[in-house]
Amino acid sequence: MNRARRPLIAGNWKMNAGGQEAFGLATGVADGARGKDRVEVVIAPPFTALAAVAYELHEAKSTVMVGAQNMHHEPGGAFTGEISAPMLKDSGAVWVILGHSERRQHFGETDEIVARKVTAAIRADLRPIACVGETLAEREADQTLEVVERQVRALLDELAKKPGFGVIAYEPVWAIGTGKVARPEDAQEVHALIRKLLTESSPELGAATRILYGGSVKADNAEGLLSQPDIDGALVGGASLDAAGFGKIVESAERLAEAAERG
Ligand code: 13P
Repeated sequence: MNRARRPLIAGNWKMNAGGQEAFGLATGVADGARGKDRVEVVIAPPFTALAAVAYELHEAKSTVMVGAQNMHHEPGGAFTGEISAPMLKDSGAVWVILGHSERRQHFGETDEIVARKVTAAIRADLRPIACVGETLAEREADQTLEVVERQVRALLDELAKKPGFGVIAYEPVWAIGTGKVARPEDAQEVHALIRKLLTESSPELGAATRILYGGSVKADNAEGLLSQPDIDGALVGGASLDAAGFGKIVESAERLAEAAERG
């Protein structure tokens, strides 16, 4: 964590809590985030609950923001079953997760598609959380840095249009939902590479862009990860479905940000 960048903790609910359960969970997150003013908190419910959760948070005067988990790159038209960036914005979303490894793996999203989505999100004033990360096979073949570099390079031109507006999430695929969290120093190595690529594109982009870590982040391992100089927050899956546990991750970020302020 670096005091120049405000930590961001985002909860990706994936295909869970898309109905009535969303309300209790969102209220619990809002309660846990109250007073943690150094941290930005985002929750990404399924589409079916997004507008209702955004409305609920607004009514509760919560600073917790809502994000979507995906979108189509076209603003509208004959794309049955799809949802566009302007629609998300209109429903109360501030953020959108793009290029998650589950989208890349199960829905064929390529670097090019992800870049198109990032462009469309920025155009609609929706803040992208663009995901990158290597598979287990790629890590074992020593291709981690190469793969992440390719994925990040595909996004640089888009992100450079509005430095600091978008966020990158490094999520090693082997760490997602497996309980196998990356060691903080291994995650930091990849985050440092991403920072270098951003800075080479423009120093302002490098300084302003928050890079989140994702993959089995829990209350008991968040602090070690968030203490790394280039880890500016977390993208949390499973542990974001428990408001109390998620609140503890937010608390860790708040504590570290407070300590960084004191110097
Ligand atoms: P887990 O925290 O469940 O490993 O999921 C991480 C993730 O994919 C967040 O987008």
